[in-house]
Parts: sequence; structure tokens; C-alpha cells
Amino acid sequence: MALDFTVPLLNLVPDMRKKTPSAEAAARLLRSAKKVMKNAHAPYSKFRVGAAILLSNGKIFSGCNVENASYGMTNCAERTAIFSAVAELGPKIEIRAVSVVNDHGVPCSPCGACRQVIYEFGPDATIFYQSAEGPKQAHITELLPEGFRLQ
Ligand code: THU
Repeated sequence: MALDFTVPLLNLVPDMRKKTPSAEAAARLLRSAKKVMKNAHAPYSKFRVGAAILLSNGKIFSGCNVENASYGMTNCAERTAIFSAVAELGPKIEIRAVSVVNDHGVPCSPCGACRQVIYEFGPDATIFYQSAEGPKQAHITELLPEGFRLQ
């Protein structure tokens, strides 16, 4: 099923408090997530996931899920993308948006662990994903209401 995140962006009353990325930026992110999904190492779940993140400097990083025979060592697509951005640019990155896709075309929002990692680098990030009702966008604090921070 083709995923189209542009429709939810056409809100008649956009929330001006949140720096929602443009429809064009969301479309670029989606293309990037779909492309990297093909690199997933998912022989156990057979569930390939791709994620792309948009940074405040305009750069896009992407990642796929990387599973392991020791299942708990699996890294989700979202964290792969974020860790690769930190490895390349250092820890001062700011995540503006995240797009997540899977090769089954089923509902899939970032897992709890990934929400916490997204929040660390993107407390104002917009997340694009497939929900039970179709393509959806949500603020990270809607997905993770009381994210943890070390003061
Ligand atoms: N997975 C992700 O990469 N991202 C998500 O948002 C949900 C789940 C991966 C982990 C595992 O490799 C597979 O999907 C099945 O859980």
C-alpha cells in the first residue's frame, strides 16, 4: 500500500506553536525511509523497517532495523538513524521530524525505547508514521508524554 503523508499535513488550522516540517520535507523524509528500509537485516521477524530523520540544519539521516540471533540485541530503524547522525555530526543535533515505514504497510509507530531516544535529541519533533487509521503525524510529546531528562 502506498503511504502518503502529505494529506495530514494539509490541516486547515495548522498548529503554529510547533515547527511542523513542510509537506515537501515530509515527502523527502518518506522517500528516504522507504529507500533505507531495503537494507534492513530482519531474518527473524521478517519485518523490515526504515526511518529517516530531518535535523534542524536541514540534513537527513536514515536507518533500518538490524536484528540479531540474540534477539534483544536488535536495533530499531529509528535508533539506527539517530545514532548514525550523532556519529557523523556529534551530539548537538536537533531532530525536527522522523518518518517511519515498514514493508508490510501495517500500523507502526516508534517503540517506547525509540520514543525516549527521539525525545533526547528532538523534544519538539514531529513523527510521521502509519497508524490504524492511516498515515498520521504526532508530536513526540503526544507519543511520550513524560519523557525522561537528567537535569
Ligand atoms: N522495529 C523498528 O525498527 N522500528 C519500529 O518502530 C518498530 C519495530 C523493528 C524491530 C524488529 O527488528 C522488528 O521491527 C520487529 O519488531
